[in-house]
Amino acid sequence: MNIPEVEVWQGDITTLRVDAIVNAANSSLLGGGGVDGAIHRAAGPELVAHCRTLGGCPTGEARITPGFRLPATHVIHTVGPVWRGGDYDEAELLAACYRNSLALAEQHGLRSVAFPAISCGIYGYPHDAAATIAILEMRRPRAADSSLERLLLVPFARDMADLYRRLLA
Ligand code: APR
Repeated sequence: MNIPEVEVWQGDITTLRVDAIVNAANSSLLGGGGVDGAIHRAAGPELVAHCRTLGGCPTGEARITPGFRLPATHVIHTVGPVWRGGDYDEAELLAACYRNSLALAEQHGLRSVAFPAISCGIYGYPHDAAATIAILEMRRPRAADSSLERLLLVPFARDMADLYRRLLA
């Protein structure tokens, strides 16, 4: 059993040279605003062309693509839940985003994976609850043969960075 190291790195996730950055996508996988928009802009048009071949992604699931012009070699696209008050399985669906993204990274033998604050922007998820779920899922012990070594939480804003650091302490 090993527990990967979880670090907080505040800034623009598209600049990170890691095996995969995770995209907070929508179910079409065809791009959007927020971090989705930033990732597609940085990756270039090949990303959306590739995503068109994937046929979308249900909430809570994850799909992997090359990173194209990004410094990251892969993008793991996951679709977070829209916050609707907490009685529509939002917590379970958000946890599934992290679990499925980590499992997909392991299936591809990736070592380093960086996550944005999934659902914490346009999808309106309360930050404390979302950060708690993220850290809980990222700290789950991995199988002994897991490729995962380094997991990063990448808050864009300072308050999110402070929240992550407080919860990790
Ligand atoms: N690097 C890291 N984090 C970023 C970046 C960036 N370049 N840009 C935005 N963020 C942060 C936001 O500040 C927020 O904390 O990512 C977090 C997630 O916010 P959104 O990007 O709005 O994602 P989400 O809330 O999951 O909503 C997804 O937004 O962009 C659309 O197509 C996307 O429909 C989907 C929805």
